[in-house]
Amino acid sequence: ETIAAFRKTLLNWYDENKRDLPWRRDHDPYHVWVSEIMLQQTQVNTVIPYYERFMSMFPTINDLAAAKPEQLLKAWEGLGYYSRARNLQRAAQEIVNDRHGEWPTTAAGLQELTGIGPYTAGAIASIAFGEPVAAVDGNAFRVFGRLLMIDADITKPATRSIFAETIDRIIDPQRPGDFNQAIMDLGSSYMTAKNPDVTHSPVKAFDRSYETGHVLDYPVKTAK
Ligand code: ADE
Repeated sequence: ETIAAFRKTLLNWYDENKRDLPWRRDHDPYHVWVSEIMLQQTQVNTVIPYYERFMSMFPTINDLAAAKPEQLLKAWEGLGYYSRARNLQRAAQEIVNDRHGEWPTTAAGLQELTGIGPYTAGAIASIAFGEPVAAVDGNAFRVFGRLLMIDADITKPATRSIFAETIDRIIDPQRPGDFNQAIMDLGSSYMTAKNPDVTHSPVKAFDRSYETGHVLDYPVKTAK
């Protein structure tokens, strides 16, 4: 039915067109986590060289847990929001010291770590551990807000769970990490905020806002 056809169309497109990014070379939770934290306030193209250098300075989570503050500062310099780096090291120490190096493998468990909120937990759980759980960021708001013409206001905190519950029903249980990353790639190519190119979108057949001429009315943001 529609959900199965949507998954298939999305993942076929992703297989042919996914961006070749250094943190997509494997599914190591350390790699996924560091990239997702860097990508929170920084663009993909800026993150790439920082990510590469960070991994050469701290190849494992043990190296990060044991890093001296000045090494960490040096690795992060230029990325901004240094609190992200401090939280990254704190969580590394929680895993290495308090959890004997064992990662929580679910989104719920991951949120117990310092600096890991619902989005990052969903990204790590789906990409590294194969949990069929949404990673709700701005891309997911745009893509699903438009496809399904979801009328909930994304500036309201309660709206995140409306999207999460909706996406949890649609996500491909076999390939949840690829599904979430395909949504990120769609959201930064055909389904951007300002100049979306839905005419060429691989999922335009599933896009109710395109069908009805309301692409730019979604996602809904009232306050502001
Ligand atoms: N933005 C946030 N996470 C990302 C990922 N895993 N791939 C591409 N862009 C992203």
